[in-house]
Amino acid sequence: MKLKKVIKWTGIAILTALILAFLVGFIAYWRSTNDCERNTGIPATPIKAIVHCEYGSPDVLTLADVEKPVPNDNQLLVRVRAAAVNPLDLTIRGPWLIRPLLGMRKPKDTRLGVDYAGTVEAVGKNVTQFKLGDEVFGGKDGAIAEYICVLADRAVTLKPANMTFEQAASVPVAAITALQGLRDKGKIQAGQKVLINGASGGVGTFAVQIAKSFGTEVTGICSTRNVDLVRSIGADHVIDYTKEDFTQTDQRYDLIFDLVGNHSFSERRHILNPNGICVMAGVGGAGWHDGMGIRLAGELDAYVRSRFVSQKFISYIAQFNKKDMMVLGDLLQSGKMTPVIDRTYKLNETADALRYLEQGHARGKVVINLE
Ligand SMILES: NC(=O)c1ccc[n+]([C@@H]2O[C@H](COP(=O)([O-])OP(=O)(O)OC[C@H]3O[C@@H](n4cnc5c(N)ncnc54)[C@H](OP(=O)(O)O)[C@@H]3O)[C@@H](O)[C@H]2O)c1
Repeated sequence: MKLKKVIKWTGIAILTALILAFLVGFIAYWRSTNDCERNTGIPATPIKAIVHCEYGSPDVLTLADVEKPVPNDNQLLVRVRAAAVNPLDLTIRGPWLIRPLLGMRKPKDTRLGVDYAGTVEAVGKNVTQFKLGDEVFGGKDGAIAEYICVLADRAVTLKPANMTFEQAASVPVAAITALQGLRDKGKIQAGQKVLINGASGGVGTFAVQIAKSFGTEVTGICSTRNVDLVRSIGADHVIDYTKEDFTQTDQRYDLIFDLVGNHSFSERRHILNPNGICVMAGVGGAGWHDGMGIRLAGELDAYVRSRFVSQKFISYIAQFNKKDMMVLGDLLQSGKMTPVIDRTYKLNETADALRYLEQGHARGKVVINLE
């Protein structure tokens, strides 16, 4: 009798919670709005920016007039000369899993891009590290626009003089991902054997060069058409994944930096030294491709199973900070790292740039030129 009551009230509680969750979700969905609905007037000082008012394919991107931003006391006003696109920008498609963060019905943030390089056109009164005319590069949401305001103490640093704006703009997201994955998660050390799966893409081309800068022996994995490219940026060995499975070998590695995740836990563990580390940084080229769901599940499986073995399988999300931007600046300045630029598009061709990136086969970085 007692058990029946418990079951009945548990059922009612679950049902009530479900109805409430549905109602909250429904209200959040219909209340979610964005700048496109709020700012319907004509900007007083218009600048051009890439905007998406709705979720969808790159077709939803428009080149719009928006208000020119005004820097506060701690900010710089940067005239953007070049920007770059990243797999991250494909959140314009509004995957349902992360819509509670992005906005349920419409994207809360209607602007696109993060990577930029440009010239300082104004500085706030508290800013001492930068002056008018400085050439800088960094990461800031909404960077694909003629002007942006950035906090001087965040992820912005001087552009090395030996780099063009396009080269510098291609660096921030991809190279910081490679740096933090190899150095902080992979604990990379000179003399180690490092394998980079996905060596020819935006992150991979930086990862090969950063791993070499640490004095390691690097093996890059790519397809036939990219073998020469990956060798040219410093890889000691290159394996063509269309001809050879890199996990079916007697070779052992201290560190796998995996941007593809297309091999199982056991396959990757087989080629790791007993104390080796596999840094699981991504699940293949940008865009959604067949088998990605399985890869994501495989990475979760690897993470759980690695708790019970000597090798470590780690995943992470790269984070911007000024110190690492300066490390990247030094790598560029010293010539230890040179961006590989696949294609350059004009500002009004940003949707084409994203369509190309989304195919998942970029060779290095895809850049937007705003000159
Ligand atoms: N953890 C983080 O914080 C973080 C940050 C940025 C990016 N990511 C992730 O890292 C991954 C790579 O990003 P990205 O910017 O480098 O993307 P990307 O530039 O679009 O990568 C394209 C490259 O991936 C290569 N590729 C595709 N399938 C491959 C395979 N089976 N084996 C080897 N290479 C393959 C392609 O080479 P082919 O044309 O020869 O196939 C192409 O050169 C993405 O999954 C992205 O989401 C993670």
